[in-house]
Amino acid sequence: MYLCLTMTEKEFLSKPYKNKLAKAHVTWQSPSNIALVKYWGKYGEQLPKNTSISFTLSNCHTKTSLFYEPKTSTDFEFEVFLDGKREAGFEPKILKFFQRIENYISFLRDYNFRIETTNSFPHSSGIASSASGMSALALCLMEMEQQLNPSIASDYFNQKASFLARLGSGSACRSVEGPLIVWGKHAAIPGSSNLFGTKYPFEVHPNFDNYQDTILLVDKGEKQVSSTVGHDLMHEHPFAEERFAQANSNMEKLIPVLREGNLDAFIKIVESEALSLHAMMMTSMPYFILMKPNTLEIINRIWKYRNETGSKVCFTLDAGANVHVLYPENEKEDVKKFIENHLAHFCQNKQFICDVSGNGAQSVIDN
Ligand code: PMV
Repeated sequence: MYLCLTMTEKEFLSKPYKNKLAKAHVTWQSPSNIALVKYWGKYGEQLPKNTSISFTLSNCHTKTSLFYEPKTSTDFEFEVFLDGKREAGFEPKILKFFQRIENYISFLRDYNFRIETTNSFPHSSGIASSASGMSALALCLMEMEQQLNPSIASDYFNQKASFLARLGSGSACRSVEGPLIVWGKHAAIPGSSNLFGTKYPFEVHPNFDNYQDTILLVDKGEKQVSSTVGHDLMHEHPFAEERFAQANSNMEKLIPVLREGNLDAFIKIVESEALSLHAMMMTSMPYFILMKPNTLEIINRIWKYRNETGSKVCFTLDAGANVHVLYPENEKEDVKKFIENHLAHFCQNKQFICDVSGNGAQSVIDN
């Protein structure tokens, strides 16, 4: 196959390994992430049309164990288990992932794999597990590569893990490290790349330490429109170019906001990003709406609460109906009470998940 690769992609190509690892397993736990400036629209192999930035989360995570056993046949051989049960439905996605990353992880056909995965958040809660799941799997593969090549440095390890995760699911590349990760090249952000996520390189005010994210589970069902379809619809979208420019400009506006701890300006950017993302969905052809009536109820209550109390609470949305309620740590008690008393009844079975920004994935040593 002819490959037209950038310098950096070439650095990630893996050499053929002569030695094989003995039967064993590795385990990684990767968190989910919540974007402040949204990625919506891609080109090539999972490359973003604009820069995005996210808080890495802590409590919503996927734990994946990769069991491997050397084999001689040349096919891909693997099985996926979710919560201990075979989940053949995930396997086509993993096969596609393996095919995409084969040039970078050359040993995939040399082992029989058993992928055992569990999520800390309830199954079908409407919280996508693709970011945390692909990140955890990419890290397991990198750990195998490191065992085969112990000279791999930790920067390369994280960069390549993020690069591989991106090829599984775009936003997964922002789930390797934390607490603030940028993905997508931006002239104002040194080191930023379309190929992998990088740590936000500038000063961040303590107002943003341990930033709280309470996820209100408005609709736990399957999304009617997948994010793959949504990204694709940006190709013919009448407002696409303006949207990409808006996101890149919001990214730049966030730099002084994060440095100065300006929560009012933060709220304006974050809420506008969430609504712009959904506005793209509503103005694509075909158009669609992922928000539900209760999503809007919650947004209006957050605005009312903020007006009445001067709170710095705000909301953001993923590609779904659930609402991420974001607020600084010093408002934790008050906002929790507000959520319990005034927002929880707009959630399915009054369910919500309390999370907080975190430092990224961890290797798990288990026996
Ligand atoms: O990683 P994907 O292809 O599932 O896309 C995620 C897109 C959003 O969650 C809506 C925004 C983002 O930047 O995470």
